Amino acid sequence: MKKLNMLYEGKAKKIFATDNPDHVIQEFKDDATAFDATKRGTIRGKSVVNNKISVRLFELLESKGVETHFIKLLSDTEMLVKKLAIVPVEVTIRNIVAGGMSKLLGIEEGLVLKAPVLEYHFKNDALHDPLINDYHIAALDIATKAELDIIQNRSFEINNILKHFFSERRLDLVDFKLEFGRHKGKILLGDEISPDTCRFWEQGTGRKMDKDRFRRDLGRIEETYEEMLNIVLNNK
Ligand code: TMP
Ligand code: ASP
Repeated sequence: MKKLNMLYEGKAKKIFATDNPDHVIQEFKDDATAFDATKRGTIRGKSVVNNKISVRLFELLESKGVETHFIKLLSDTEMLVKKLAIVPVEVTIRNIVAGGMSKLLGIEEGLVLKAPVLEYHFKNDALHDPLINDYHIAALDIATKAELDIIQNRSFEINNILKHFFSERRLDLVDFKLEFGRHKGKILLGDEISPDTCRFWEQGTGRKMDKDRFRRDLGRIEETYEEMLNIVLNNK
């Protein structure tokens, strides 16, 4: 397998072509951004942490029958994945109120929701990833009703699997973001699952173990990412 030209550079990852048109390499960066890239910085070692955490979680999900784009780990910062046509919607699942939901509805962070909340955000930084619903998605032909059913069901299933995984490690999975894409007629989970895309609160102390340490200047950012990698790789 050969690594060819760069196809795309995002805020936290680069995508490279390979000699197989159906496969691409996803390479993680140490760059960190927040608030639609108005805040920028570097989290040393984040690329390795996010790559390895994502690999572990994709393997976990695959073992439970959730189809993802993951094929194999290539190096500390790279994984081989199936090439997706990304559905331009960020799917957010929330178990506890924090961040955007707290701001949107004026509810204090920390309220445990009676049931998980699923949100769709249209992927567009210039518009601040606006909240949209199923009707926008169908009416604008962003995804079909059948695709959206799959995305929704899978997102809740992923929530159950991850909530259990993290609670065994004494962490509350507060919320997280997923992206899905099309590959050979199938909807697969794509992107990454990492402290950049999830909120984790340590049980008992409420200590924040995710990118909120960078967003909110809480300090011990690199150390916390390293700690999360050890927690995830530690088998229960
Ligand atoms: P929010 O509360 O800011 O909407 O974030 C909800 C979850 O989604 C949180 O775990 C962080 C993650 N997230 C991303 O992965 N990318 C983003 O651009 C944003 C805004 C949030
Ligand atoms: N990564 C996103 C951005 O830079 C936001 C975030 O994760 O808070 O826009």
